[in-house]
Amino acid sequence: MDLAGKKIVLGLTGGIACYKVAELTRALGKAGASVQVVMTQAATQFITPLTMQALSGQPVFTDQWDARIANNMAHIDLSRDADAIVIAPCSTDFISKLAHGACDDLLSTLCVARPARLPLLVAPAMNVEMWQNPATRRNVAQLAADGIELLGPDTGEQACGENGMGRMLEPAQLLEHIIAAFQPKILAGKRVLLTAGPTFEPIDPVRGITNLSSGKMGYAIARAARQAGAEVTLVSGTTTLDAPLGVQRIAAQTAQQMHDAVLAHLSGQDVFIAVAAVADWRVANASAQKLKKDGSEGEKNTGPVLEFAQNPDILATVAALPKRPYCVGFAAESENLLQYGEQKRLRKNIPLLVGNIGHHTFGQDDNELILFDAHGHTLLPRNDKQALARQLIAAIASRLPH
Ligand code: C5P
Repeated sequence: MDLAGKKIVLGLTGGIACYKVAELTRALGKAGASVQVVMTQAATQFITPLTMQALSGQPVFTDQWDARIANNMAHIDLSRDADAIVIAPCSTDFISKLAHGACDDLLSTLCVARPARLPLLVAPAMNVEMWQNPATRRNVAQLAADGIELLGPDTGEQACGENGMGRMLEPAQLLEHIIAAFQPKILAGKRVLLTAGPTFEPIDPVRGITNLSSGKMGYAIARAARQAGAEVTLVSGTTTLDAPLGVQRIAAQTAQQMHDAVLAHLSGQDVFIAVAAVADWRVANASAQKLKKDGSEGEKNTGPVLEFAQNPDILATVAALPKRPYCVGFAAESENLLQYGEQKRLRKNIPLLVGNIGHHTFGQDDNELILFDAHGHTLLPRNDKQALARQLIAAIASRLPH
C-alpha cells in the first residue's frame, strides 16, 4: 500500500488517453489512495463521469458551478485536504492554461487555487506535432520553471496513426511516478550501485548451480534509492522481476560476470550495496559440451565429478579500493546473527552490514533486518521488503558524508 492514506485529485482533460486513466484510477485505489476525479468538459467526450465515479468510488466534479459542496466553492475545497493533484491525460490546451494561469473551468481554476505546498503532476498526452509546436515547448518549459512535475510523455505509436513524442505514459509508469513523488529526496544527486539476485555457475551449457534468491530485496532497495532521487545502477543475476522504473539494469549470470560489471560501473558511485546471493565457488571443470549419461545404470554410477574454484568476493574487492564508495553488505546467517553479523562487518571492512533475521527470507515478500555499524546494531522489525528498503535507504542516507 504505497499510497496508504493519500488523497489525490485526479484531473482528466480531453484526449483519447482518458481510457488509460480508468486503469490508473483502479491502480491508485489499490495502492491505498483515495481519488477525487475532476473532469473538463472535453474529457467527458472521451470517458463518462459515471465510469470514473464507479472506478474511484466518489462523485465526479465537472462543473465550476456545481452546488454539491456546501459553500459552493469546489475549486477551493477539493484541493485543501489533498496530498497531490495529478492531471492525466494533460492536453496541449490544458498545458497552455497551466502555463498562463487561466481559470475558465473547474479544473484550471482548482489548479491555480491550489495551496503552494501541494504538488502538481501532469502527464501530457498529445500528437507529436502538437508536442513539438514552439508554443507547447514554451509552455512546457514554463511549467517546469513553476515547479510543476512533468510525467513523460513517451515516444511511440499514437492514436492518430502518427509516431513520435507525445504518448501518455502507461498507467503502471504513472503510478510509479506518483508514488515516487511522495518520497523524500534524501539521495538527490547521489549515485548508487547495487548487486541483486542469484548467480548461476555453469556445469555444462544447459546446467548449473544457483540458489533461491528471488532478487526481491535488492530490487526493492534499488527502487527505494531511485525514489529517493539517486541515479541507480543495478547489476542483477537472473530473476523474473521487472527493472524498477528509472533504474539502469545490467544483467550478469555468473559471480565473475557480476564482479566485472560492478567494477566497470564503479567510477563515480557514492554508495555500493551488495545484496546479491553470490556463489562462493564456481565449477572449475565445467564442460563445454552437454554432459551425457554413459549408459550404465545402478548406484555405482555416481555421475561426473565436479571440481570447484573460488569466486572473487565482490563486496570485499570494492571495500578494499582506496577510493571506495560507502559500502553496505548483507548477511544471511542461520544462527548467532548478532555475533556473526558484527564479525562479518569487520571482516569485510565495511561501515554498514545488514543481517537478515533467519535464512528463510529468500523469495518472501517480507523480512526482518538488523543493521550493524560502528555504534552497534539496530533492529528493523518485520515488514514488507519495500517498506524495509525505504528504511534502509534512510539509514544509509543519514550515514553518508555531507
Ligand atoms: O561472506 P558472505 O557471502 O556471507 O557475505 C555476504 C555479502 O557479501 C553480501 O553482501 C553479498 O552480496 C556479498 N558477496 C559478494 N561476493 C561474493 C560473496 C558475497 O559481493 N563472492
